[in-house]
Amino acid sequence: MEGMESVEEQNVAPSTAAREAYFVDFALAMREKVNLPLMVTGRFRTRAAMDYAIESGAADVIGIARPLCYVTDGPLQLLNGLTELPRKEEDLALIPSSLGFLKRLQLLKAVDNFAAIYWFYAQLYSLGRTGRTNPGLSVFAALREVEGTHKRLLAARARSRC
Ligand SMILES: Cc1cc2nc3c(=O)[nH]c(=O)nc-3n(C[C@H](O)[C@H](O)[C@H](O)COP(=O)(O)O)c2cc1C
Repeated sequence: MEGMESVEEQNVAPSTAAREAYFVDFALAMREKVNLPLMVTGRFRTRAAMDYAIESGAADVIGIARPLCYVTDGPLQLLNGLTELPRKEEDLALIPSSLGFLKRLQLLKAVDNFAAIYWFYAQLYSLGRTGRTNPGLSVFAALREVEGTHKRLLAARARSRC
């Protein structure tokens, strides 16, 4: 389950690791089995890696998820010469590294993982509300906002069933 399970190390060739996007080799293998357009998503950040995935035939379409939650014109910037999208996910943590030992507790580790994911949800909420992202939002504030929204939605759903 997202946020609860440890991130499984991908068994990828070093060439894939160098290309950064961990599903490229998987997509190449899929090509041999299916005759469908393939979209590949997962950690594409550099234009070079995206070009490689398309030019090698691994993918027909590139998916970009987290960066587009806060750099909404990312694809346009890449087409205009930007070489790399930012990697905000590497800076997002609820539990500071000095207290990293707390993540030995499965529950706290899960909360930490969810909070980092919720930061991206909160960017989408902000876009919906104001038309702008909120990159200065703290991970803690994002956790509170998304948890609060989930609670309100669940309560509204329960009321509508009464
Ligand atoms: C806001 C948000 C919502 C997502 N929702 C889903 C989902 O409903 N189903 C799913 O399989 N993946 C979902 N993902 C995962 C993405 O599709 C993608 O696989 C993952 O974020 C890795 O790509 P990235 O490195 O470009 O972010 C979501 C990601 C984000 C940031």
